[in-house]
Amino acid sequence: MAHLAVSDVRAKYGSLEVLKGISFSIEKGEIAALVGPSGSGKSTVLRALMGLTPITEGSVEIASERMNYSSAKEVRAARDRMAIVFQAYNLFQNMTVMQNLTLAPLKIKKWPKAEVEAEARRLLGLVGLSDKADAYSDQLSGGQQQRVALARGLALKPQILLLDEVTSALDPELVGEVLDAIGKLAAEGMTMVIVSHEMGFVREVADKVVFMDAGQIVESGAPAEIFDAPKTDRARDFFSKVLRH
Ligand SMILES: Nc1ncnc2c1ncn2[C@@H]1O[C@H](COP(=O)(O)OP(=O)(O)O)[C@@H](O)[C@H]1O
Ligand SMILES: [Mg+2]
Repeated sequence: MAHLAVSDVRAKYGSLEVLKGISFSIEKGEIAALVGPSGSGKSTVLRALMGLTPITEGSVEIASERMNYSSAKEVRAARDRMAIVFQAYNLFQNMTVMQNLTLAPLKIKKWPKAEVEAEARRLLGLVGLSDKADAYSDQLSGGQQQRVALARGLALKPQILLLDEVTSALDPELVGEVLDAIGKLAAEGMTMVIVSHEMGFVREVADKVVFMDAGQIVESGAPAEIFDAPKTDRARDFFSKVLRH
């Protein structure tokens, strides 16, 4: 049984339909990578999963449970199961790393403090920032801040982690440390849907690559299948441009 099943999902911005029937599924512990040209709807898929962009048709199931985004309560239920990290890490600059990680678990989830802090320290270890718990976020590099943002998402114990171009705003020399942290999460068995332009990384970690264009899935399959033997002209054309660099 799929851990995440997205079936024929459609979404609009005003009268513009930007998702035209998106279907894919992943098992627990798997990683799906959404790839494709700018404007193809990758971010909208993640936003729709989080209930940030309304789904007009189709369904989303997590662990066999149908997500229903029709009320604030239902949207909260969906958001309880997922965490999303964006390109801009949006840490609270006037707080320490530890405060950034523990704020939502303590104030929103109302989980016990000792447990929340222990989990925050474990996550900082996982992203290689054990020594930064008491640093303020504006004292960190972009790569370190993005790793804190990953840990902050995980502190909410999501069943699925959504990552939208988390390395795109970083200086090239900082990309590797963030990809390494995501690779560790993958090795821990985190189920993820990632949007990334780092094709080498996608090939390494993704179980499934979903190639989108103009609000539709053109092809999907194992990385080697999609990258080395694309079946459609659109995918061939796209990969010939992005894999050359
Ligand atoms: N807030 C918005 N209002 C109107 N149109 C939007 C909005 N956000 C995205 N779009 C449009 O939706 C389409 C898909 O965008 P997006 O999901 O951001 O693509 P991608 O992440 O693949 O670059 C694009 O045509 C984009 O212009
Ligand atoms: Mg996007």
